[in-house]
Amino acid sequence: MDDENSISRLNEIGRKALEGLEKISEASDLERWKVENLGRSAPVMEIFSHLTGLDSTMRPLVGQAANRLKQQLEKAYGEREQVIKTAQLKNSLETETLDISLPGRQPGVGRLHPVTQTLRQITDVFSGMGFQVYRSREVETDEFSFGLLNIPPYHPARDMWDTFHTTTPGVVLRPHTSPGQIHVMRQFCPEPIRAILPGMCYRYEQMDARHESQLMQVELLVVGREISLGNLKGTLQEFARGMFGAEVRTRFRPSYFPFTEPSGDMEIECFICSGKGCRVCSKTGWLEILGCGMVHPTVLQNGGYDPEVFSGFAAGMGVERVAMLRHHVEEIRYFYGNDVRFLEQF
Ligand code: DAH
Repeated sequence: MDDENSISRLNEIGRKALEGLEKISEASDLERWKVENLGRSAPVMEIFSHLTGLDSTMRPLVGQAANRLKQQLEKAYGEREQVIKTAQLKNSLETETLDISLPGRQPGVGRLHPVTQTLRQITDVFSGMGFQVYRSREVETDEFSFGLLNIPPYHPARDMWDTFHTTTPGVVLRPHTSPGQIHVMRQFCPEPIRAILPGMCYRYEQMDARHESQLMQVELLVVGREISLGNLKGTLQEFARGMFGAEVRTRFRPSYFPFTEPSGDMEIECFICSGKGCRVCSKTGWLEILGCGMVHPTVLQNGGYDPEVFSGFAAGMGVERVAMLRHHVEEIRYFYGNDVRFLEQF
């Protein structure tokens, strides 16, 4: 290449490069342009490598011209880059506008656990009948859980409660709310009592669809003069109506509990099959919802009441069981499984 040619070649390189640059509107094309026109093997760079073959008077002229062109291209590149960036920003401001009128995402709203809801309904029905709520402890003594309830250590009825014993001898997690009967009687004796005693109970259960190792119970205790089996039936029937609807049918069947005599179970007519018999009621047409009975004289005595003067009735029910019946839940383990997909349905 001779000297004249080098200069015109530089002009040609510059013209082409700048023409190409004009047309570019994308950042990726711009990057490619930079490699092609300012990279190591760009045409302008080749001019530099040919300098040594030039006439010594022309060499500085061509060298300076090539340098100028390189700077010119760099400057043009910088300007173009700025133009593209500005256009991009403008575009994204226009197309990606934030619609502040759109309602925000609602944070999840908590709610009461279905067992708590059911407990509150039970409490409502009984407070309507003048019952007060009495809370008693979850960690109990063996004596209150069994002995004072007429279940001595050797008594086989203890097998009805698979109890968790603590490492402290004689201290257990209460397997039922019945020990609260003794506490409330000792506190109020010789006053009459009309109380419900709700609370968590613990059992060393083989867990299945109907048994959990933790369960909420509500105990019922009425003590006074001339309290009769008729009072027990009337009160519990009234409860069933308040809880399951005015039409609900109930029945009582004899049962056995050491702390009541006589003892019974109350059942309500199965509302799935209306008494015809189905899978939920094990083909009997009835669903058991609580155990009950007239308070055993020994228990009254242990509470401080003279059984010759006072009588009373008691009952106990599992709140999960009632919740299952009301909401048609077939698996008790859902209640404490902490799965919001289950819990948020209530
Ligand atoms: N404590 C009994 C249980 O856990 C339930 C019960 C039955 C309570 C009869 C009572 C009652 O007060 O009279 O199985």
